[in-house]
Amino acid sequence: MNREQLLKEMGLGPLWKLRQPAKKSRAAAAAPAAEAAMPVDARTAAIAAMDWPALARAVAECTACPLHATRKQAVLGVGDIHAEWLFVGEGPGAEEDERGEPFVGQAGKLLDAMLAAIGLKRGENVYIANAVKCRPPGNRTPEPAETAACWPFLARQIELIRPKLIVALGKPAAQTLLQQEVTIARARGRVHDCAGIPLIVTYHPAYLLRNLPDKAKAWEDLCFMRKTMASLR
Ligand code: URA
Ligand code: SF4
Repeated sequence: MNREQLLKEMGLGPLWKLRQPAKKSRAAAAAPAAEAAMPVDARTAAIAAMDWPALARAVAECTACPLHATRKQAVLGVGDIHAEWLFVGEGPGAEEDERGEPFVGQAGKLLDAMLAAIGLKRGENVYIANAVKCRPPGNRTPEPAETAACWPFLARQIELIRPKLIVALGKPAAQTLLQQEVTIARARGRVHDCAGIPLIVTYHPAYLLRNLPDKAKAWEDLCFMRKTMASLR
């Protein structure tokens, strides 16, 4: 699948489109019914203008994809809204769904340890979010249509936080943020660009718990992140 096909399947356009909501065409202005025919664009534009309280409310009440039906609660994110570091995971698991905070289960313990390894702490100059805000049933991987439906929320979080560095944890987060097909093995160890913000890709902590040998590579990635952030200051 090439980049264009993937974007199409995910329902994603270039990031900058989200930053500059398209001006209403004359036809749309003249015929309000035309807006009803473009609910996705209208929703994206509305989310792109939200402040934090509006965003939190919109996420809590969102029914834009099938994941809303099985969640206990949506999980917006946690941390410092002026953070230099933004970590993005895949989606809430059972404990996150229960508690309303990202990465509070087993994978979260490892993430906290990874943060500590580079002198960081949850909530202090760090914000943690997910590609989808509602738990995929049975912790399955979110479908491209689900990450696409949830993307405007993450895009708005990025705009509000304006982090210096984004870290994508695992493939779904990396693909959502980079809007292209990604393998972690090939994408790690380089600085990518996410709408002008440097982005580094690494393994998801839940993957590391199952694949201990790759922890050494994750350590290399942590060192690379720290070095990259130092070069950005
Ligand atoms: N895994 C994730 O990707 N996110 C969480 O919040 C928890 C586990
Ligand atoms: Fe809405 Fe995202 Fe939850 Fe889907 S996962 S219902 S898009 S908040």
